Amino acid sequence: MANKMIGVDIGFGFTKTTDGNDFLVFKSIYGEAIDFQFHEDLLGTAGEDEHLHIDIDDTSYFVGELAERQSSSRTFTLDQNQFVATSSKVLALAALSKIVGDSSQTINLVVGLPIGNYRQFKSDLATMLRGTHRIGSTNSQGVRKEINLKIGEVKVLPQPIGTVMDRLLNRQGKPENKRFATDKIGIIDIGFRTTDYTISDKGRYSERGSLTTQNGIAKAFTKIATKLKETCKVDIEIYRLFTAVEQGNIKVRGKAYDLQKITEHAFKQLAATVAADANQVWSDDWDIDAIMITGGGGAVLATYIQPLIEGVIIPIEEDLDYRLHNVRGYYKYGLHSWSPHLSTHSEESEQSS
Ligand SMILES: Nc1ncnc2c1ncn2[C@@H]1O[C@H](COP(=O)(O)OP(=O)(O)OP(=O)(O)O)[C@@H](O)[C@H]1O
Ligand SMILES: [Mg+2]
Repeated sequence: MANKMIGVDIGFGFTKTTDGNDFLVFKSIYGEAIDFQFHEDLLGTAGEDEHLHIDIDDTSYFVGELAERQSSSRTFTLDQNQFVATSSKVLALAALSKIVGDSSQTINLVVGLPIGNYRQFKSDLATMLRGTHRIGSTNSQGVRKEINLKIGEVKVLPQPIGTVMDRLLNRQGKPENKRFATDKIGIIDIGFRTTDYTISDKGRYSERGSLTTQNGIAKAFTKIATKLKETCKVDIEIYRLFTAVEQGNIKVRGKAYDLQKITEHAFKQLAATVAADANQVWSDDWDIDAIMITGGGGAVLATYIQPLIEGVIIPIEEDLDYRLHNVRGYYKYGLHSWSPHLSTHSEESEQSS
């Protein structure tokens, strides 16, 4: 039986995973599990998808929304080294436990790392994930089952390269869109915490022209939170601002506050910084054919950034949530690398620059 191909993108904001058919997204938050007094979902509104409760190495965790709602101590780290070293295993295994279900098939995994951590952590991350993980998974009714996650091969890609692979490869993992195989493309991946810049030169990752900055959407959220603290005297954890910002208002103790003006201002300012960094890091790469803007933050900032960037922008396909383009690319890259009849140049995996 062929191994099952899965892509996992562990971001500071959201963990994204796909097996080629289904996508799963949850907030990259986890905390200690508590014992529920009762398991009934009062209004029957919580989906099984949102219920992530897993045991790894004798510790029981709530992950994603469940941790946000129920854990008293939560890990939501913005420290990069700690994130890769400790959080990524919990988040990746939680994602796999959902998407793999009961299947005992061996998994081949493609994961991404931010550009700035790529060299330092790529083999550590692969080693940490490879092998058999015996984990427990408890559903929303409190029924626990044991799962053996068998991870065979692991490949690690620089995160924004996922978006290039998504455009270059078709659903079977075959190179199709030749432009991405022949051109020099700059990618700006705007995430929750970081913005990554990189260049794909004829389908290869080039370390020159690569940069990771801390200018993710969180920066704009921090500004909004500071403003809220001034006006309504509460400390709002920034990961609680997603919905509020999207809706344009927030309710604090029953009173609604309008967020549109401050959000617009914060996003414009952030976009200017992101664009200035792009022009700077690629100042010598005048031969770039085109630029792509990706990541969940890309969806929010693209319109502000476009007029400020020197070069041609390729719009990314609108068929999918911007947060998911990297992970779909990882999955396709997995197909490409591990399907023998397809790999004409699979050793590009090591992506040496
Ligand atoms: N449907 C959505 N729900 C929530 N956030 C969204 C949505 N669409 C776009 N966003 C934006 O996407 C951002 C997160 O993007 P993404 O998932 O790419 O970040 P990440 O990969 O977790 O972060 P990083 O790359 O810094 O590790 C959020 O900050 C939010 O502004
Ligand atoms: Mg990301």
